[in-house]
Amino acid sequence: MANLIMKTAMSVPHPNPDGTTSHSTKPASGQVAGYPPKGEGTNDRCANFAFFAADENTTLALAQRLATLLKPGIVIYLRGDLGAGKTTFVRGVLNALGHTGRVKSPTYTLVESYHAGGLNLLHFDLYRMHDAEEWESAGFRDEFDGRNVFLIEWPEKAQELAPPADLEIVFSILAHGRQIELHANTETGRQCIRLLKE
Ligand SMILES: Nc1ncnc2c1ncn2[C@@H]1O[C@H](COP(=O)(O)OP(=O)(O)O)[C@@H](O)[C@H]1O
Ligand SMILES: [Mg+2]
Repeated sequence: MANLIMKTAMSVPHPNPDGTTSHSTKPASGQVAGYPPKGEGTNDRCANFAFFAADENTTLALAQRLATLLKPGIVIYLRGDLGAGKTTFVRGVLNALGHTGRVKSPTYTLVESYHAGGLNLLHFDLYRMHDAEEWESAGFRDEFDGRNVFLIEWPEKAQELAPPADLEIVFSILAHGRQIELHANTETGRQCIRLLKE
């Protein structure tokens, strides 16, 4: 955890030459306007969690920690620009659960399924979904059965048809590294953040 700088602020970090980090309130790139959702207590220390990942391995280390906290049925949105680290994070989760094969980005297939660590996981990449209705026609709704773990890149493409997220993870590209922010929308999500902070 040496290079994992944890913060609870909702602001954008600007690395300083001395290694410290300054913050502004400007929304991060890829961050959705209006975050966190209205009604979600920003004073709730378990609702939000943010830190700076200096390199890919730091992102993978966080994914590894989150992997141990996943429960059947949890829904996680992964937001951020292309190349921000969403698929890298999913690879970290799957590898931590024991998956040794490739983790390919399901850009054209929209979804890849995995069985690892006793969990069924569905990794969605909806970037190339043209119409939200595809979520229905592809039968994805039926997969939301309380058991499958959903990891969804570009959830906004499915609009309100995708199941609501317990946890949203927002990746922002910085000059050197990534800002990764977690937002909990449910008690399940808050529990993940609570345990990540321990
Ligand atoms: N801190 C970091 N975390 C994650 N990826 C990083 C980081 N620094 C550099 N990278 C690189 O950025 C790219 C992220 O790609 P990917 O995970 O496919 O992004 P996305 O799925 O968001 O489009 C990879 O090439 C990875 O090596
Ligand atoms: Mg991706």
